Amino acid sequence: MLATLTLLLYISQSTSIADFAKLFNDSTVNTTKPANRSVVSTTQLTTTQLSTTQLSTTRFVSQCSLIKEFRLNVSSHQNTKTYNIGILVIVDNHNTDKDYKIATDSLICYARLQNYTMEHVYIDENADLIKMCPHKDKMLRRHCVAAHYIKKHDWTLFVDADIGVINPNHRIEEYIDDTVPLIFYDRFYNWEVAAGSYLAKNSEYASYFLNEWANFEYRLPNSFHGTDNGLLHMILIEQLAPFAVIERGICQRWLNNSKSYDDLFVFQACTRMVLGANRHWPGKLKLLGKGKAWSRDGWITGTKYCAHDFLFHGWKLSKLGGEWHMPFANPDDLAKCDKGFATFTTKPGVLASVDEIEDIMCRKYVDVERNLFQNVGRLGQKF
Ligand SMILES: *[C@@H]1O[C@H](CO)[C@@H](O)[C@H](O)[C@H]1NC(C)=O
Ligand SMILES: *[C@@H]1O[C@H](CO)[C@@H](O)[C@H](O)[C@H]1NC(C)=O
Ligand SMILES: *[C@@H]1O[C@H](CO)[C@@H](O)[C@H](O)[C@H]1NC(C)=O
Ligand SMILES: *[C@@H]1O[C@H](CO)[C@@H](O)[C@H](O)[C@H]1NC(C)=O
Ligand SMILES: *[C@@H]1O[C@H](CO)[C@@H](O)[C@H](O)[C@H]1NC(C)=O
Ligand SMILES: *[C@@H]1O[C@H](CO)[C@@H](O)[C@H](O)[C@H]1NC(C)=O
Repeated sequence: MLATLTLLLYISQSTSIADFAKLFNDSTVNTTKPANRSVVSTTQLTTTQLSTTQLSTTRFVSQCSLIKEFRLNVSSHQNTKTYNIGILVIVDNHNTDKDYKIATDSLICYARLQNYTMEHVYIDENADLIKMCPHKDKMLRRHCVAAHYIKKHDWTLFVDADIGVINPNHRIEEYIDDTVPLIFYDRFYNWEVAAGSYLAKNSEYASYFLNEWANFEYRLPNSFHGTDNGLLHMILIEQLAPFAVIERGICQRWLNNSKSYDDLFVFQACTRMVLGANRHWPGKLKLLGKGKAWSRDGWITGTKYCAHDFLFHGWKLSKLGGEWHMPFANPDDLAKCDKGFATFTTKPGVLASVDEIEDIMCRKYVDVERNLFQNVGRLGQKF
C-alpha cells in the first residue's frame, strides 16, 4: 500500500485521475511471478521483510511498462520564446581545469553553436568577488557568486564544472518556465534535489534565494551536513513551506545530528515529506522530476543517452573508465569546435533508443522510490 502511494505522490504532475486509478487499481496488478532480479541481497532479510519486498517488487516490475509510458507522456515545458541566456560555471582556481576539460570544452562548443554566453568564473582570481562572497565553504560560496552573475542575463543556467553536453540539439529555452524565477530538478539515483545545476531568472527572488543558501555558512550545524547539497533541502522547506514549523524542527534535528550519508539521506527524505507532492510554487520555484530536466547523472545508463538527454553530470577525467566512458568519437575536436554539431558525434552504440533508456530508468525509479519510503520510516526512530 505504501509503495503504491509513493508513486502516486511522485508522478502526480499532469495526468488525469482516471489514468492513475487505472495504473494503481490493485485488481489490475499482474501477479505473474517476474523473472529473478537481484534487488536486495536476500540473505540479509528476515522472512517477513523478504515477503514484503517480493510483493512490492512484483507489483512494480509488472507496472514498469505503464510507468514508462506515463513518463514518456510527460514532456518538458517546451517554451519556444528566446531569451538572453548565460551558462555559468564557477570554480575556485585553475587547479581543476584538467579534470573538467571534456565537460568544459563541450559546454563552450555548445554555447558557441547555440549562441549562448558562456561565463566561466575563477573566484580566487577576482578580488571583487572574494570581497562580496567571503564564505569559507567553497561549495556555498559559489551560490553567492551566482546570485551576482544571474543579473547579467535574462536566465542563467548554473552548472557544476563536471557537467557536459552529451546532446547539443537541445536548447535551454525548452526548460524555462516564466511563472517561476528558479527551476531545480530531482536527482535520479536518490530523492535529493540536485544542487549541481539550476536555472535562475534575473530576479530579486532568485538572488535572495541563492544568498540565503550561501549564507547557511553562518548557521552551519556541527554535523555531517553535506554542504550546499544537503543544506539546499533546508532552504527549500524554509522557503516553500514556512508554515511547517514542527516538521521543520524534526528535519533540523536529523540535520544537526547527522554523522554520515545515511543520516543525511534520512534528513533529505524528511524534507521531501514536508514539500509533499507539490512541484510548482508560482513566483518562487519549480522542481522537475527524475530524468525530466536538462541534466542527469550519465552513469545511471552507463553513459548511454537518447534523444531526450541533453547534459550529463559526472565528467571528471580522473573518473574516466570508472564512473563514465568517453562517449565521443573524436574528443579532441571539442576544444576546436570546428565541425559544428558533428563535433559531438558519439561512438557506435552510445546513442540508444528512448525506449531502451526509459526501460533502465523505470527500473531504477522504482528502486529509489521504495528506498525513499524506507528512509521516511527511519524518521520515527528519533521521535
Ligand atoms: C478496478 O478494476 C476493477 C476490475 O477490473 C474494475 O471493475 C474497476 O472499475 C477498476 N477501478 C478503477 C477505478 O479503474
Ligand atoms: C505479467 O508479468 C510477467 C512477468 O513479469 C510478464 O512476462 C507478462 O508478460 C505480464 N503479463 C501482462 C499481461 O502484462
Ligand atoms: C530463480 O531463482 C531460483 C532460486 O535461486 C532458482 O531455483 C531458479 O532457477 C531461478 N530462475 C531463473 C529463471 O533464473
Ligand atoms: C500517453 O499518451 C497517449 C496518447 O495521448 C495516451 O493514449 C495514453 O493513455 C497515455 N498514457 C499514459 C500512461 O498517460
Ligand atoms: C547563431 O547565430 C548565427 C549568427 O548570427 C546564426 O547564423 C545561427 O543561425 C544562430 N544559431 C542558432 C542555433 O540560433
Ligand atoms: C540545530 O543547530 C543550529 C545551529 O547550531 C541551532 O541553531 C538549532 O537550534 C538546532 N536545532 C535543533 C532542532 O536541534
